[in-house]
Amino acid sequence: AVERTLSIIKPDATRRNLTGKINARFEDAGLRIVAQKRLQLTREQAEKFYAVHAERSFFNDLCTFMTSGPVVVQVLEGEGAVLRNREIMGATNPANAAPGTIRADFAESVEANSVHGSDSPENAANEIAFFFSQIEILS
Ligand code: CMP
Repeated sequence: AVERTLSIIKPDATRRNLTGKINARFEDAGLRIVAQKRLQLTREQAEKFYAVHAERSFFNDLCTFMTSGPVVVQVLEGEGAVLRNREIMGATNPANAAPGTIRADFAESVEANSVHGSDSPENAANEIAFFFSQIEILS
């Protein structure tokens, strides 16, 4: 089925001017960028977005990193977009990411891993609504 997923190009990637290269990975794989904006996350936004990880040891560092520079938040659309995007991104830790994936090719560390992608269709709907209104998404 055609799905939508929430993608974030993280501060390590915007800092290195990799937005276009990363977007080309999505488009070359058949996903369409149907909404996109560049934002500076506030601490409050980062903590709310990653609330599911609030008890993890890395939560504080994660929120500091995600507010360390601009991010690009985007909605990707396509057949099986949630899983497809996770394949394109590769494993969370770039040391475990398959060759040719975004994280294998661009990520600096498990924290500065260049991209975020929703992990289920249900989370995708919530994460998309966190950043976008319906009229900002154009298939
Ligand atoms: P993301 O998909 O954005 O979701 C949570 C993020 O926490 C994850 O990608 C990683 O970038 C980050 N993170 C930092 N340290 C760890 C860790 N030890 N294990 C898992 N995720 C981590």
